[in-house]
Amino acid sequence: MMRFNQAFAAGEVALVGAGPGAADLLTLRAVRLMEQAEVVLYDRLVSDEVMALLPAKCRRIDVGKKCGQHSVSQQRIGELLVHYARQGLRVLRLKGGDPAIFARLGEELDALVQAGIAYQLVPGISAASGCAAAAGIPLTERGQAQQLRFISAVDQHSATSQDWADLSAPNQTLVFYMGTAALGEISQQLQQHGLAADWPVLLVQQGCRPQQQIQLTDLQSAAAVAASLSTPCLIIIGQVALRYRQQQARLQLPTALQAKEQAA
Ligand SMILES: C[S@@+](CC[C@H](N)C(=O)[O-])C[C@H]1O[C@@H](n2cnc3c(N)ncnc32)[C@H](O)[C@@H]1O
Repeated sequence: MMRFNQAFAAGEVALVGAGPGAADLLTLRAVRLMEQAEVVLYDRLVSDEVMALLPAKCRRIDVGKKCGQHSVSQQRIGELLVHYARQGLRVLRLKGGDPAIFARLGEELDALVQAGIAYQLVPGISAASGCAAAAGIPLTERGQAQQLRFISAVDQHSATSQDWADLSAPNQTLVFYMGTAALGEISQQLQQHGLAADWPVLLVQQGCRPQQQIQLTDLQSAAAVAASLSTPCLIIIGQVALRYRQQQARLQLPTALQAKEQAA
């Protein structure tokens, strides 16, 4: 059932990653499929800039979700995908970031497999990669962060839902998705399990979008800083976050040079 090229057959569903926001972070394959799409079911996180690349005649269906809650139920999304594919349409399922990461891809694949609908998958740049690049930091670093963990914080309000001792090992980078509301508890648990109060935390709000804001903080202050941020927001915890200072220095360089020139 699975296809491996970007040809888009009638009656097929393409589940495509829309990346973190900027349209030029889409893959070529995503763009080629978007150009052929006849109906699109899209999430709240798909940016206007990306949506603008769809053909004018493509029917747009908003199945967006906020804070883990779908405005259209997951079951209904599966039914809609099957419904439009059975009409012989080229159906695009456009998801923010990468469709395989915290995007309930498995449930949608189940619906397609059960209905015998052909589908293809196209990866996208996940928020972790996009936000790290925007901040100018690596996610792993030799001798410092040999592990990288992607964690959904939706269930984080329950302190028992994670192995905090394991997550508090210092030689790793933690990336929390959907974590703003739970950041107080995340910070508290990590400190209780051994990480220092000044352990670095990078908050990337609206990463790879015109409204992007980045704040470097630490475990003891992160929740207070995050309270003033809007979503989507990605939380990157670990020593790699300190490299954001290099990016800040680089961005300030032209201003510093200009000031020096003016003074001379
Ligand atoms: C339901 S998850 C979807 C993740 C997506 N599939 C991906 O690979 O990036 C939504 C969470 O991803 C993160 N996120 C997605 N896009 C983001 C962006 N542009 N800037 C910051 N965080 C983002 C936020 O933590 C948000 O709450």
